[in-house]
Amino acid sequence: MDRLAEKVAFVTGGAGGIGLGMAQAFRRAGMKVVLADLDASALRQAAASLEAQPGSAVLTLELDVSDRQAMARVADRLDAELGGVHLLCNNAGVNAPGGLAELGYDDWDWVLGVNLDGVVNGLVTFLPRMLAHGEPGHIVNTASVGGLIGMPGLGIYCASKFAVVGLSESLRHDLAETPLGVSVLCPGIVRSGIGDSARNRPQRFGGPVRAESAAAAFGSDPTELGEQVREAVEADRFWICTHPEFRHYVEARGNALLGAFQGDSDADLEAAMAPIVGRVLR
Ligand SMILES: NC(=O)c1ccc[n+]([C@@H]2O[C@H](COP(=O)([O-])OP(=O)(O)OC[C@H]3O[C@@H](n4cnc5c(N)ncnc54)[C@H](O)[C@@H]3O)[C@@H](O)[C@H]2O)c1
Repeated sequence: MDRLAEKVAFVTGGAGGIGLGMAQAFRRAGMKVVLADLDASALRQAAASLEAQPGSAVLTLELDVSDRQAMARVADRLDAELGGVHLLCNNAGVNAPGGLAELGYDDWDWVLGVNLDGVVNGLVTFLPRMLAHGEPGHIVNTASVGGLIGMPGLGIYCASKFAVVGLSESLRHDLAETPLGVSVLCPGIVRSGIGDSARNRPQRFGGPVRAESAAAAFGSDPTELGEQVREAVEADRFWICTHPEFRHYVEARGNALLGAFQGDSDADLEAAMAPIVGRVLR
């Protein structure tokens, strides 16, 4: 999708962090931007910050991405008001950190409901509509380096992100003969609210909990990440791997996997993973 101006971008989890960074970049490229998020007050602030810069009005929609009916209502509204979506960013995500022995069904249901079902619902709802209007378009699914390497203390998160990587790879093949491109975004640590994601944890999964966020302090700049995503969409690149400091771990995992086909031990992988940063997203 090399011409973004005047096209419609729909970004879930768009009220802050990476979603807002992407929205900034898309808007600078002349796109009409729609932000969807669970957090109504953060949405208002996000729209005000975007509209302080020149560009078209920003549409904000309160949406829980795990709610299929609500997703369909949003899609109907975007069809009616904007003629549909060209750039679908399934980005909303949350994390429940902790060892798998400590976590329970509420944690699994909440995180998979947002990180995996949210992506599935975005696809099932919007993909047929994007194919039906037939114009060039693109889908960006936000995964993580946690979708490329299993990390300690991030088991549910990694399960959800491995799933997003896998379905995105399949989707890329499935859509090869269509005007729709696919990318999967696999960032490392980005300055955002992810470490405090239980601030929006619904009551049915135990309710909100506040936490100190390490990622909020020392991660990379989400607006720069947004520009990297825009470039990847324009160039139709599948993998968007923005944090080279994680390459070593992915390489060690890949080598261990290849070695396993000839009976090698996992010792090198274990050594490489020893200092890994699994707990920094807390
Ligand atoms: N920040 C990082 O270091 C990092 C690294 C890799 C991947 N990611 C991924 O990036 C994506 C964006 O996260 P972020 O880091 O910007 O965090 P963030 O907390 O700043 O933004 C996530 C947004 O999603 C919204 N959200 C939560 N549950 C929702 C739901 N059910 N429906 C709709 N919106 C919901 C939140 O209100 C928030 O605005 C996530 O998928 C996350 O897993 C983040």
